[in-house]
Amino acid sequence: MKYSLYCARCGREYDDTGRRVRCDCGGVLDLRFESSFAPDMAVGRPHDLWRYREALPVGDDVVTMGEGWTPLLPVTFDGREFLVKQEQLFPTGSYKDRGAAVLMTHLHELGVKHVVEDSSGNAGCAVAAYSARGGIACDIYVPEDTSPAKTAQIEAYGATLYRVPGTREDTARAALEAAATCVYASHVYSPWFLQGTKTLAYEVAEQLGWTAPETLVLPAGNGTLLLGAYLGFTELMRAEIVSHVPRIVAVQAAACAPLARAFADGLDDPVEVHASHTVAEGIAIVTPARGWQVLAAVRASGGLFVTVSEQEIVASLRDCCLGGWFIEPTSAAVIAGARRYARTAVVGETVVTAFTGHGLKAVAKIAELVGPL
Ligand SMILES: Cc1ncc(COP(=O)(O)O)c(C=O)c1O
Ligand SMILES: [Zn+2]
Repeated sequence: MKYSLYCARCGREYDDTGRRVRCDCGGVLDLRFESSFAPDMAVGRPHDLWRYREALPVGDDVVTMGEGWTPLLPVTFDGREFLVKQEQLFPTGSYKDRGAAVLMTHLHELGVKHVVEDSSGNAGCAVAAYSARGGIACDIYVPEDTSPAKTAQIEAYGATLYRVPGTREDTARAALEAAATCVYASHVYSPWFLQGTKTLAYEVAEQLGWTAPETLVLPAGNGTLLLGAYLGFTELMRAEIVSHVPRIVAVQAAACAPLARAFADGLDDPVEVHASHTVAEGIAIVTPARGWQVLAAVRASGGLFVTVSEQEIVASLRDCCLGGWFIEPTSAAVIAGARRYARTAVVGETVVTAFTGHGLKAVAKIAELVGPL
């Protein structure tokens, strides 16, 4: 498998031991890898994300639970139709399985025996699950106020859970320190995670008859799904499998919007914000490490940012539940953003978005926020 690991800021190359988190200059690391995938290769293969294996820089011994190929379903809000990827249906209940399956396959190939990860919950669940599948010991650091369903899920997979007092950034710091003695299976820093999330683009394109939609509405916390989708559509366009990269509409909670503020001000890096509380815990990221890449991807796609209020998030959560879609509050924030964007969109525009996380992850919070009516 030919690939190289390099710094996205200064270009320096590194050998891949699984242990390097960042460049010495502080920049995040990316992968240089040429996909050799062509649509006819997927014909007759199982319907999971490994049907795009020529687009993934790993070998055949994959750590898998048959994940991927989530349904792309039409769902109507405010009289407008959206195509919604059902990412809440993954084995651990969120799209993070895309990244974790590929990242843990890679670390398993390297012979890694012990990993550490930090998360607002869902990435921790996914890394813990795929570590369990791969026979790898796993320590997960989460903020103290993480939903009990997520912490229970992490521990059920046999991972060791560390609850860290303070902010989400304090949790990330604790994990980074712990990573000095083992491998940091980070959904934010590891470029392998983005190799996994890029399969969303391949699936959407195939589900639309190998075409790209006009618009993609995705969350922007750390931007792990958004960056993966951008990478995937860029690869598909370069290979002339689709004609264009969709316009990316990035959604942040107004209560924590360092990227939306930077975008509005024409800046290349996230701005410092004093975040207030949001029910969308998964996108409450004050200092996204790949923030400049998210801003660059949204700009390059001709896209934009939308911010959503707490009232809009709760209203979308309620509307989704009443429509039969049991999703978690962070996921409802994305739908609120899609609805806000659609008010200005051209009629007939194909807008693809996602239910990113399952409601069973946050039952107590959902009960508090929406029900009973
Ligand atoms: C349910 C859910 N949706 C969306 C996100 C946003 O993550 P990102 O911006 O890294 O794609 C998260 C992150 O934890 C999440 O758990
Ligand atoms: Zn560098």
